[in-house]
Amino acid sequence: MATFQAPKGTYDLIPPYSAKYLAVREAISGPLRKSGYGYIETPGFEDVDLFARGVGESTDIVTKEMYTLTTKGGANLALRPEGTASVLRAALEANLHKAGGLPVKLWYSGSYYRYERPQKGRYRHFSQVGAEAIGSEDPALDAELIILADQAYRSLGLRNFRILLNSLGDAECRPVYREALQGFLRGLDLDEETLRRAEINPLRVLDDKRESVQKQLVGAPMLRDYLCEACKAYHSEVRELITAAGVVFEDDEKLVRGLDYYTRTTFEFVHDGLGSQSAVGGGGRYDGLSEMIGGPALPSVGWALGVDRTVLALEAEGVELDIPPATSVFAIALSDEARKVLFGAVTELRKTGVAADFSYGSKGLKSHMKNANRSGARFTVVAGERDLAEGVVQLKDMESGEQDAVALADLVATVRARLA
Ligand code: HAM
Repeated sequence: MATFQAPKGTYDLIPPYSAKYLAVREAISGPLRKSGYGYIETPGFEDVDLFARGVGESTDIVTKEMYTLTTKGGANLALRPEGTASVLRAALEANLHKAGGLPVKLWYSGSYYRYERPQKGRYRHFSQVGAEAIGSEDPALDAELIILADQAYRSLGLRNFRILLNSLGDAECRPVYREALQGFLRGLDLDEETLRRAEINPLRVLDDKRESVQKQLVGAPMLRDYLCEACKAYHSEVRELITAAGVVFEDDEKLVRGLDYYTRTTFEFVHDGLGSQSAVGGGGRYDGLSEMIGGPALPSVGWALGVDRTVLALEAEGVELDIPPATSVFAIALSDEARKVLFGAVTELRKTGVAADFSYGSKGLKSHMKNANRSGARFTVVAGERDLAEGVVQLKDMESGEQDAVALADLVATVRARLA
C-alpha cells in the first residue's frame, strides 16, 4: 500500500509540540488585541494580479515563488505568499477606510505559501501573525507596531533578537537615490544577472550576500544621504519614540526588504541562533500600496512575524514555554455501570468549564492510568461497582498522591473547589 508524506518543504504540527505554536500565536496577537487591532481573516488565495501589482513584478516572491493556478472557470489565482496585499484589498473592498476613523487597525494569523528552496527555517508552507495599520501617516503608529512586536517577543521569554531599522525614503527622494545608485552599479564588474537586477531593483543589489559583490559596494551612495527633509524628520521621530519606550534597535542602512511596496520606515527582527534564515519577522510602511492596487491614497504600516521561526528561536535559546496541561480531570471507569456514571460526570464537569477527559475503550486500569498520566490531569476520578454501590468515586490528586472517596453527588463541586 502506498503511504503518503507531507509535501516537500512542509511539515505537520502534531501534539504535544503543536501547543507551542498556539502559545506563540497567542503571545504575538495578545499585545495587538489590547491595542485596538481587530481580527481579520481573508481567503487563502487571491487574484494573482493583486500580488503581482502589490508585492512587485520584479520580486523573487512574484517571479519565482508563487503557487499559481487557473480555476475551471478560468480565473488566475495564487496561494497567498504574504498577508499585506490581501488585508489591504479586503479593507478597501469593505470600505473600512470610510466607515470609521483612521487608522484602520487589523491583525491576522494564518498560513502562507512560497515555492522556496526548503531548508531549516524556510518552508513552502509557513505561518505568520501580522498587523496592519491602514490610512494614517503618523510616526507614533510605526513606533507602536515595533514596540508591540518587541513586547510580544519578550513576553515569550525571547531575548537574543535584534531589531534592524532603516528608512527607504518616499516617492520624492527615493527615485533620485535610485538613479545615483544605478549610476554607481553600472561602473562595477558584476555578472549579468546582478546587472539586470541593478536596472530593475538596484536597492536589492545592496543586499547581495556574496563577498565579491559586497567588496565592490564599498563607497556606494547611501540612501541616508539622499533622504528628503520630510523623510528625515519622520524617521527621527520614529527612532525617538521607540527609544523612549526602551526598545533597543540598530540602524541598518543596508536593510532592503524582499517586497517592493515599502516606503520610509522598514524594520526586521533577526535572531542570531537561526543560521541563514535569521529574520523572525519584518515589516514597514507602505504608503503607496493602496494606489498600486487601485485604491485611494492610504499611507499604512504593518509587520508580520513568522510563527515557525519564532518557535525555532525559542528552541535555540532553550526557552521552555509555560504551557498548562489541557486536561484537569481524567475519569477512569472500572465497570459498565461506572462508564455511564463517569461519562455523565465528565460531561457535567465540562459544562462547568473544567477540562475533563475519559477512559475510552475497554482497556485495563493500567493502560487507562497511563493515558491519565499522559494527559497531565491534576486529578483522576476512578470508580468501580463497589464505589457506585456506596455512592462514591475515588478522587486522586496526582500532584500530592492523596486519594479520598467523594460522594458522587459532590464530585463537580469538590473538584472545582480543589482546582481553585
Ligand atoms: P516577510 O519578511 O516576507 O514580510 O515575512 C515575514 C516573516 O515571515 C519572516 O520574517 C519569516 O519569519 C516568515 N517567513 C517568510 N517566508 C518564510 C518561509 N519560506 N518559511 C518560514 N517562514 C517564513 C511579509 O510577509 C510582509 N507581508 C510583512 C508586512 C506586513 N509588511 C507590512 N505589513
